[in-house]
Amino acid sequence: MDKLQGIDQAIYRYYRSRKVISEELIASILYSIDSGGKRIRPLIMLEILEGFGVKLNDSHFDVAAAVEMIHTGSLIHDDLPAMDNDDYRRGRLTNHKKFNEATAILAGDSLFLDPFGLIAETNLSAEIKIQLVSELSYSSGTFGMVGGQMLDMLGEEAQLSLEDLQTIHANKTGKLLAFPFVAAGIIAEQSSVVVTDLQTAGELIGLAFQVRDDILDVTATFEEIGKTPQKDLLAEKSTYPALLGLEKSYAILNESLEKAQAIFQKLQENQGFNPQNIQEIIERLRLHA
Ligand code: IPE
Ligand code: IPE
Ligand code: MG
Ligand code: MG
Ligand code: MG
Repeated sequence: MDKLQGIDQAIYRYYRSRKVISEELIASILYSIDSGGKRIRPLIMLEILEGFGVKLNDSHFDVAAAVEMIHTGSLIHDDLPAMDNDDYRRGRLTNHKKFNEATAILAGDSLFLDPFGLIAETNLSAEIKIQLVSELSYSSGTFGMVGGQMLDMLGEEAQLSLEDLQTIHANKTGKLLAFPFVAAGIIAEQSSVVVTDLQTAGELIGLAFQVRDDILDVTATFEEIGKTPQKDLLAEKSTYPALLGLEKSYAILNESLEKAQAIFQKLQENQGFNPQNIQEIIERLRLHA
């Protein structure tokens, strides 16, 4: 089955197989889910699982869907007037513009809470499910994405050091992006040494990913990114290009990607991991001036 289709089907299975409480809420949730998006987080998890020789089933697609749901919820809240105040996302109106602020807040709430039930209901072993729920909670909550978003808000219009900025990026984006790497290791029942390597690779990709997003804010068009460019400049956000310039930002992006690729090279040599598809995903994140 096509992986992108499988991810969407898992999300629909969750929302369409239960007795509906509010059609408006589900419409708002599915509006943001349906807007597309690259689905990089769930794809990473599925490609790494296959790299370890795991045959994909519905439970794996459910876990992949869970991380995409949290990510989508984070975007809905990130775009709210009280946060980044954006009108466009994934090429169309943001959730609060299409619906209203209350609905967008509640859709985000749903997308943060539903994934834990979804994971709990999969056919994976109880031990694996507990580890996944724990990892997903940490990477998305107070000690992960939400904590990072708080620092991002506090950092607007402030002069931040590179270290401060690294901390913001590692938390607001890095940890949730590292989740699929760690989750794949847990599901494939790899040793803690291998899971730690996967986590390191995930954190490198997570940093690279936010630096890339910061670069694209400066260099890309609306058509390319589906959101209003140059917003960071306007909000006086601390970003890698703002702090270090574009050239250095490109270098940090590409170096981080190479370091992650080296980890998968090592996993190929030592664990018989097949890195082809994950290496391709990583390669596609490269940008050149
Ligand atoms: C955008 O994430 C927000 C960041 C964490 C940088 P993505 O670039 O993955 O957004 P979609 O899912 O493709 O829309
Ligand atoms: C978003 O970072 C990180 C999240 C946790 C959603 P940005 O604010 O830079 O993401 P975009 O540029 O709006 O997608
Ligand atoms: Mg933001
Ligand atoms: Mg934003
Ligand atoms: Mg951005």
